[in-house]
Amino acid sequence: MAKLGVFDLAVRYGKLTAISDLSFTVSEGERVFVSGPNGAGKSSLLSAIAGSVRAAHGRIEMDGAILSGLGPEAIARRGLSMVPEGRRIFPSLSVQENLMVGTGMRRDRSAVADDLDTIFTAFPILRDRARAQAGALSGGQQQMLAIARALMTNPKVMLVDEPSLGLAPKVVDEVYDRLCQLQALRGLTLVIVEQSSARAARVGGRMLLMRCGKIVADGDATEFAAKDLLTEAYFGGAA
Ligand SMILES: Nc1ncnc2c1ncn2[C@@H]1O[C@H](COP(=O)(O)OP(=O)(O)OP(=O)(O)O)[C@@H](O)[C@H]1O
Ligand SMILES: [Mg+2]
Repeated sequence: MAKLGVFDLAVRYGKLTAISDLSFTVSEGERVFVSGPNGAGKSSLLSAIAGSVRAAHGRIEMDGAILSGLGPEAIARRGLSMVPEGRRIFPSLSVQENLMVGTGMRRDRSAVADDLDTIFTAFPILRDRARAQAGALSGGQQQMLAIARALMTNPKVMLVDEPSLGLAPKVVDEVYDRLCQLQALRGLTLVIVEQSSARAARVGGRMLLMRCGKIVADGDATEFAAKDLLTEAYFGGAA
């Protein structure tokens, strides 16, 4: 059984069709990159899976249970969480407060404290800066915070939208190192929007290529990177 299944998905914004006839499945513990040009529908796909955008059509399943139709909180409670594009942390709240947002409804306060401790162990920099305003963190630290916050619900599946956006290459390395460590440690299933096929190839995994709201290719990230290199060699990167 697939960990995550998306079947015949469509997303529309008024008259604009952002996604149509889109299907794919992801296995447990798999790492899948979603790539494609601006406006291809990558963020819409992640948002539809996480329930923050309503699907016009289609079915989304996790572990065989149907997620489509549920709201984002209910989906998060079932073990799927998302790190949205642009991180969306609360800059005026402290690092710790950012991590606690969303745990307010949980009654198992001691388990929440344990989760916080686990997160701080995985991200020592966040423990060091627990009381600092989140807006005062560097871009890389803010990305770590956004990832850490998504982990506070103890997800089995995590969707990450463009973690490398606006970060220096070295910082991107760190973010991916941490994501991969967490994946190995927790057996997480990861779906990551990443524009750079070279980056995806270096990290390793499967890649879905989107264009105009559809998946146009599905394969190993290294093959995509090799094709991109070929294109660049022939067309000088202009294609
Ligand atoms: N809230 C919205 N309202 C109206 N149209 C939207 C909305 N969000 C996205 N769109 C449109 O839907 C299409 C897909 O957008 P989406 O953000 O999913 O693409 P993307 O692949 O994530 O792009 P990018 O690489 O720029 O992040 C685009 O044409 C976009 O303009
Ligand atoms: Mg996007």
